[in-house]
Amino acid sequence: MANPKILSLILFSLFAIASAKVFFEERFEDGWENSWVVSDWKKDENTAGVWNYTSGKWNGDPNDKGIQTSEDYRFYAISAEFPKFSNKDQTLVFQFSVKHEQKLDCGGGYMKLLSGEVDQKKFGGDTPYSIMFGPDICGYSTKKVHAILNYNETNHLIKKEVPCETDQLSHVYTFIIRPDATYSILIDNVEKQTGSLYADWDLLPPKTIKDPEAKKPEDWDDKEYIPDPEDKKPEGYDDIPKELPDPEAKKPEDWDDEEDGEWTAPTIPNPEYKGPWKPKKIKNPNYQGKWKAPIIDNPDFKDDPELYVYPDLRYVGIELWQVKSGTLFDNVLVCDDPEYAKQMAEETWGKQKDAEKAAFEEAEKKSDEEESKEDPADSDAEEEDEAGDAEGEDSDSETKADTAEDEDEVHDEL
Ligand SMILES: *[C@@H]1O[C@H](CO)[C@@H](O)[C@H](O)[C@H]1NC(C)=O
Ligand SMILES: *[C@@H]1O[C@H](CO)[C@@H](O)[C@H](O)[C@H]1NC(C)=O
Repeated sequence: MANPKILSLILFSLFAIASAKVFFEERFEDGWENSWVVSDWKKDENTAGVWNYTSGKWNGDPNDKGIQTSEDYRFYAISAEFPKFSNKDQTLVFQFSVKHEQKLDCGGGYMKLLSGEVDQKKFGGDTPYSIMFGPDICGYSTKKVHAILNYNETNHLIKKEVPCETDQLSHVYTFIIRPDATYSILIDNVEKQTGSLYADWDLLPPKTIKDPEAKKPEDWDDKEYIPDPEDKKPEGYDDIPKELPDPEAKKPEDWDDEEDGEWTAPTIPNPEYKGPWKPKKIKNPNYQGKWKAPIIDNPDFKDDPELYVYPDLRYVGIELWQVKSGTLFDNVLVCDDPEYAKQMAEETWGKQKDAEKAAFEEAEKKSDEEESKEDPADSDAEEEDEAGDAEGEDSDSETKADTAEDEDEVHDEL
């Protein structure tokens, strides 16, 4: 017999999910190409990479495919359109899963939401966007989740550090923006950061500022210590000589007063001499502390109750530069309901993650075995191996050069 309480709970959650507004959902099933447009960006320079429709080298379900970058040193740009909407008065949820199969050392795994009118065939690094969100890895220093908001035609980075996942498995990234101008960032359905759009981005000028008109009063006493007026110079202080004749010195035996002149002993520093006299310092009884300008309301601050609103959202896009390819995107969602997003993540990533991990470990074991099989026994093979190593180093240094380029790329976008 069904417990009525549980039954009503199920009904309630069904209702809640049924009422979710889904603006865009892409699980990359058959026919996905009909909704996505690969950009021509970088094609004439032959640096546009090809997307591979695949479940990857390891996965929890070989039939669950996504799109993966498949060529190194390439630019990637692809986008999909959805019926345009405004997130005014509703929660905005932007979610997708990403897997870096390539042991990423520098590159992004972020997606964008774009507004207005975009020529999808020309979508690229310079195309203005509304929101950019997702992991970005570069070397040891950058391993973070980007959450960039465009406001007043300027891109603003989140001021809080949100670390991203760095392994070679799928992870779900979720960005929630609420009508009360709060936000949350989740990875794998776990909240990693939350707060206010006002506090964690510099979208608006500051609410209060130091009064720029204020000046330190002329009689403001900010000296913490002063010379002690009571202290007096001891008598005879100035008579103490700086140097003394060395009492140890002796006139050399062969010194000839007539020829060499009168002998005088060399001088040494006088230990009694303490330098010019200075009165000792005491705490200033009139000390008023360090002067600080008073804080006033910033005349340039004007609150925007629609700070969180993107009135014209219309596209989701991926635009990346990849040194090493292998980043796989899946399960893209734009909706108004965090609960719906959570369930979708559980249904996809959640259901498959253990099998994916096992498949990954199996693949690692296999490649380890193959490596040890290929281990050089004779000197010929060793030479080959060294050549291989040298090549490896070469591509390493290239990676470093590209690392800088990639950072520029990201910064160019900002
Ligand atoms: C696509 O990915 C699969 C799985 O990793 C791989 O076997 C295949 O070679 C890839 N195809 C291209 C064109 O890169
Ligand atoms: C928008 O940006 C312009 C140019 O930077 C600036 O003058 C203006 O004050 C900004 N408006 C708001 C509401 O921040």
